Amino acid sequence: MKNIDNDKVVSHYGSGELIEAIRDGIAALGKSTGSVTIDDLAPVDEFHIGGRSASRALIDQMGLMADDLVLDIGCGLGGTSRFIANNYDCVVRGIDLTPEFISAGNEICKWLKLDDVIRLQKGNALNTGFDDDEFDAACMLHVGMNIAEKTSLFAEIARVVRPGGCLAVYDIMKRDDQPLQYPVPWASDSQGCALASQSQYRDAMLAAGFEILKSRDRTEIAIDFFAKMKNSAASESGPPPIGLHLVMGADAAAKVGNMIDNVVSGRIAPIEIIARKL
Ligand SMILES: C[S@@+](CC[C@H](N)C(=O)[O-])C[C@H]1O[C@@H](n2cnc3c(N)ncnc32)[C@H](O)[C@@H]1O
Repeated sequence: MKNIDNDKVVSHYGSGELIEAIRDGIAALGKSTGSVTIDDLAPVDEFHIGGRSASRALIDQMGLMADDLVLDIGCGLGGTSRFIANNYDCVVRGIDLTPEFISAGNEICKWLKLDDVIRLQKGNALNTGFDDDEFDAACMLHVGMNIAEKTSLFAEIARVVRPGGCLAVYDIMKRDDQPLQYPVPWASDSQGCALASQSQYRDAMLAAGFEILKSRDRTEIAIDFFAKMKNSAASESGPPPIGLHLVMGADAAAKVGNMIDNVVSGRIAPIEIIARKL
């Protein structure tokens, strides 16, 4: 599969107006950037199926210790990075291709006074620039759908995670070769989409030097998650002030509708894989 052009990924995710939309949402909650909490922001800054509760379910399996240095690959706005720093007392580095997410994410870290333990930076998961064995652990949530070169991706992650370190992956994986309904949250069309099957992920992880500890299909939370989003958008009051519609843009409703179809028809599933670097 041909790798996806970086500019295509960045233009898909960037709107140029995200931080203002989040500020407006905070004001609509009756809060300010000084009083907003990590929990208030979770509905917008955890850009994956199941949001914060899915992060907790995944990260709880990593065995993180206080002061561990954790890499959040494709960190987006950094919601998962902040959850890890806040709940597990870790130091976190996040890397992401989309500059708008990085600048908004670092701004939010300042609001929440987590900027001393979290640094988000622009970069490519395929060539992170970090040192060999630098991290105690790494996570990657809903990112691999934009990266065709899974073998190179996991080789780079294996390079920067120390032996014995944990890798937690939570990605949308394909279950068959039927075409998807587009747009989806990570791509406007098939050119922006690099889905792989669970066995392709496992092969790439094993080849990179990870052992697979466990995996889990999270389809049941996906159906519930998108149904709730669809219902709240259709309700009289509309979507809540802070939510994923702010990052998904004007075609958010179409993306949600297509995801219900793609998941219910069994073409794709959100899958967790927990691995350890040998
Ligand atoms: C659906 S978002 C998930 C963001 C975040 N992990 C979360 O769960 O909130 C996918 C993210 O992957 C990033 N991404 C895609 N390809 C990437 C690459 N090659 N290197 C780094 N980040 C990438 C995008 O910029 C986007 O922020």
